[in-house]
Amino acid sequence: MFSSLKDKSVLVTGGSKGIGKGIARVFAKSGCKVLITARHEDGARACADELVKAGGKAAAFAADVTDFRSMQKAADYAVKVHGGLDVLCANAGIFPQVKIEDMSDETWDITVDTNLKGTFLSVKACLPALKKSGEGRIILTSSITGPVTGFPGWTHYGATKAGQLGFMRTACIELAKYGITVNAVLPGNIKTEGLTDLGPDYEKSMAASIPLKRLGVVEDIGYAALYFATREAGYVTGQTIIVDGGQILPESMDAINQA
Ligand SMILES: NC(=O)c1ccc[n+]([C@@H]2O[C@H](COP(=O)([O-])OP(=O)(O)OC[C@H]3O[C@@H](n4cnc5c(N)ncnc54)[C@H](OP(=O)(O)O)[C@@H]3O)[C@@H](O)[C@H]2O)c1
Repeated sequence: MFSSLKDKSVLVTGGSKGIGKGIARVFAKSGCKVLITARHEDGARACADELVKAGGKAAAFAADVTDFRSMQKAADYAVKVHGGLDVLCANAGIFPQVKIEDMSDETWDITVDTNLKGTFLSVKACLPALKKSGEGRIILTSSITGPVTGFPGWTHYGATKAGQLGFMRTACIELAKYGITVNAVLPGNIKTEGLTDLGPDYEKSMAASIPLKRLGVVEDIGYAALYFATREAGYVTGQTIIVDGGQILPESMDAINQA
């Protein structure tokens, strides 16, 4: 049985929708005090209100992960409203789909700035408060795309998601002396608001290539992140967990069809 995470202070970047909202919901349900950050305050606030309505403890703050000062203010706010900071879920990310031949420098740069530099800036801004926690936890939302698989239109995205793991493997060594662990969740295809917009046919064809025959739900990622945050996971650092319904395993569609 895991020790309770009750009253741990958690900051989730990109917590206003999609996977971040799922992570926030799971931590709030576990009794944590959750600060939801996103660029748009209305979205973050709506999500926090939902969690509070459901009996959780949550607050919202507008912060952009590409802006260090903004992330410092978010970390300070977590300390102010929740009395400290124990867990950073560095989850904010963007994935504009565009092939190399059509990609502008700007698209490359904003993707790298948000997903990779944003991870670094979020960690750096939260570090002083996480050090004070004594058993700080940093949990990155990476992806199977980049570290394990590829998909046309996502060279830049895949590079950032693989880059997060390179960052993690040295960060965990540097931060071990503060009792801070750094781990990453690698989601497969997760059903978010954005994906729902692509329609039921898209979802059906994606699900057909997954051994468990369904897309993930955002809570699937939340529970994996929650494990890394537990006291019992305190000896696990610099590690990854793939949460993808077995998606990366079949050698071909034949492997799926013959099962
Ligand atoms: N969905 C999937 O199937 C999937 C699979 C693998 C990995 N992932 C990873 O999971 C993470 C979340 O993806 P998602 O699908 O849940 O995305 P999403 O639904 O589009 O949500 C993205 C979140 O990030 C915030 N955000 C975007 N840019 C930001 C910035 N510069 N600063 C602060 N917040 C920012 C957004 O709010 P604002 O717009 O208000 O800022 C929103 O809260 C990403 O890191 C993504 O790479 C997703």
